[in-house]
Amino acid sequence: MAQEPHAQTLRLIHISDLHFGAQSDGALDALREALRALDPALVVATGDLTQRGQPEQLRAARDFLDSIQVPWLATPGNHDIPVLPWRRLIDPLRDYRRYISPHTEPRVDGDLLRLAFLDSTDPSAWRAGRIGDEQANAAAGYLSGAGAAQIRVVATHHPFDELSEDGREGMRGARRALEILCADGLVDLLLCGHLHQTRIGILRNEGLRCVVGCVAATPTSPRCETSGESFVCVDLGEDAITLSPWRRTPDTERFRRVSGRHFCRQRDNHWREIEPDLDDDEEA
Ligand SMILES: [Fe+2]
Ligand SMILES: [Fe+2]
Repeated sequence: MAQEPHAQTLRLIHISDLHFGAQSDGALDALREALRALDPALVVATGDLTQRGQPEQLRAARDFLDSIQVPWLATPGNHDIPVLPWRRLIDPLRDYRRYISPHTEPRVDGDLLRLAFLDSTDPSAWRAGRIGDEQANAAAGYLSGAGAAQIRVVATHHPFDELSEDGREGMRGARRALEILCADGLVDLLLCGHLHQTRIGILRNEGLRCVVGCVAATPTSPRCETSGESFVCVDLGEDAITLSPWRRTPDTERFRRVSGRHFCRQRDNHWREIEPDLDDDEEA
């Protein structure tokens, strides 16, 4: 039976920076339990699956992702590249492709979602990332074919901050990629990681359309924001996005929903935030 158009929703879980090889006690079990309870259609993992990109760490990350019994897709982060210099020069993502997925920039096309991952790793830098015009143009071309009901999502490891002057932070080519992806209204939601902090809000850059931005913290690593490990539940509806961080603190073994941020699409295809809710009693 056909569903009511307004009853259609799609749930994603955005996780990032699992950092296999350096994890908090009990975090993996709590995360697995929360993912099963929330029952998403897809888990989106935005890189740094491992601490050092070692084969055993990549294998462990893959085993965990397979154990959650939910479809998942991922793109690599700067920690998923081997540490050895010669390995960084020659096919740095060989082990990632072998143990995690042969696809570093997977894509999804569903009723309510069109999603493009972009690999932002840069083997010439330890922390910083890079994104090329050709990558952004390819994603823009893919997203331009979306239907009116689809929320168009780009997922990268590095947030879209331009490279710092010392070259250690940010993502080379970020400003230009944002122009390509956002200026003509091709993207509704950007999902990123890397910062180990949760940041949710409307992204406003001069000359760009307003899009929703979500940086997810790490759900499993002690290298996280001081308020605890977390991930973000992403509920997509018709012209609507709700982003709900879930957090686990030292005094709570399990993840709890800490807030909900609601965004709606305006007539001019800009996004606007509407009243947040402050429910804090849901647990998984
Ligand atoms: Fe990380
Ligand atoms: Fe990172």
